[in-house]
Amino acid sequence: MEDSQSKIYDELRAALQFYQALGVEALPVLLQTVPDRPREGSGKAELLAQLREEIGDCKRCKLSEGRKNIVFGEGDGGALLMFIGEGPGREEDIQGRPFVGDAGLLLTKLIEKMSVAEKNLTRADVYIANVVKCRPPMNRDPEEDEIASCRGFIERQIEIIRPEIIVTLGRIALQTLLKRPELRITAARGNFFEYRGIPVMPTFHPAYLLRNPKDKWLTWSDAQKVMERLGGHD
Ligand code: URA
Repeated sequence: MEDSQSKIYDELRAALQFYQALGVEALPVLLQTVPDRPREGSGKAELLAQLREEIGDCKRCKLSEGRKNIVFGEGDGGALLMFIGEGPGREEDIQGRPFVGDAGLLLTKLIEKMSVAEKNLTRADVYIANVVKCRPPMNRDPEEDEIASCRGFIERQIEIIRPEIIVTLGRIALQTLLKRPELRITAARGNFFEYRGIPVMPTFHPAYLLRNPKDKWLTWSDAQKVMERLGGHD
């Protein structure tokens, strides 16, 4: 991390600890945009590891009762592209890694079909995470209180990674990230939205595509729009 940046974090941490010592539990902070961070040498992996530590053996919501592993997210902290799903499934819960079941295999195939500046992407080039970090029982949708307990973590992952583009996978990730419960995935997909200055491309969840393979071409067309926007980067 650059010295100036590290100094800002130290000062911020000290200020927050000061308020915490005074007994303040929450601060009303209005963040219009998150300041840009340099991509290289920025210590993003370290910041992500710190965040993971902070989550600890989380018991903030009832999903902790049935989970085997917390699925924090994985990939390149300096990634240009970030994929966000809704929450771990059975295989992810067992392995503690996002998108490693059948839907994950399809997502991996999609990523590997994508290329930026004539270079094919791999999973290691992107960052993959979920809105909730623990598996909802029977793969049901995460509930409002569970999302509310967890959303701060995906927000901070985004803040650290600061990708050029976010791809949301499915309805829950889209509605949660944008705080727009009225959005429908069929109408929203293929159109860019914005989250704190970062373009967001919603597309279908890969589990939906496994059930409806005829719609795979639509997700591919969404991915092409993403590649076009990222095209200028090496
Ligand atoms: N579905 C999700 O939304 N996320 C995963 O990690 C796996 C399946």
